Amino acid sequence: ETKPRLPVIWLHGLECTCCSESFIRSSHPIAADIVLNMISLDYDDTLQAAAGHQVEEIRERIMREYPGRYVLAVEGNAPTKDGGIYCTVAGKTFLEILQETAKGAMAVIAWGSCASNGCVQAAKPNPTGAKPVHELIKDKPVINVPGCPPIAEVMTGVLTYILTFDRLPELDRFGRPKMFYGQRIHDKCYRRAFFDAGQFVESWDDEGARKGWCLYKMGCRGPMTYNSCSTFKWNNGVSFPIGSGHGCIGCSEANFWDNGPFYER
Ligand code: SF4
Ligand code: SF4
Ligand code: F3S
Repeated sequence: ETKPRLPVIWLHGLECTCCSESFIRSSHPIAADIVLNMISLDYDDTLQAAAGHQVEEIRERIMREYPGRYVLAVEGNAPTKDGGIYCTVAGKTFLEILQETAKGAMAVIAWGSCASNGCVQAAKPNPTGAKPVHELIKDKPVINVPGCPPIAEVMTGVLTYILTFDRLPELDRFGRPKMFYGQRIHDKCYRRAFFDAGQFVESWDDEGARKGWCLYKMGCRGPMTYNSCSTFKWNNGVSFPIGSGHGCIGCSEANFWDNGPFYER
């Protein structure tokens, strides 16, 4: 309450906007609290009320008036082929906007797998030359928050940590906050006892599927996927993919689209 709100510029490149959809569903803290009381969300293509020249002026004003004191949040990645023309905003390529806005930022947050590791746009044959943020911005700390999308409370948790402690969270070697990406889905999965006992679902309608056995043989990538889904779950702790009867497809891991088919027996 005593500190000025942290200015945040939230850019959108090649993406589907579901990271924003996830963010606005955060319950602890609620997204409205973050946006209205904790940060000053000065620019965001999807959540801003203003439009057109007015908002482009706001982005420029924040860069000018708060050098080294604003956070750049990025949803989506930048196409680099043919000069980056496959994503343009207000007459500029997204690549140019990203590089220009990152210059004065104190840190960059890469929301979701698109911004963190490329996701579907960068999957082979990557027709637009899409590149994740950390491959394009080398001179700023980049916090990768992967997941397609990331869990809402992980997103607001990263912002809350920065605001509370006035520092960036500790990151692993892939630039992910350790507090949210330090364990595999498999480590906390409630079906783990069935894995350990060798009880596996062998087809979608077998007895094991009805009894909720382990989905490893149905292609579950939980043993090699680092994320908080089996701890926090989704939709205010209601469930997560495995809780709905489907294996983890590793949506927070780099190259998950290229790492073989999701369905393999
Ligand atoms: Fe959408 Fe997934 Fe990209 Fe987020 S990471 S913008 S959910 S495609
Ligand atoms: Fe591990 Fe997946 Fe089986 Fe859960 S369902 S115990 S994450 S292999
Ligand atoms: Fe993604 Fe696997 Fe979680 S598919 S949503 S990381 S359980």
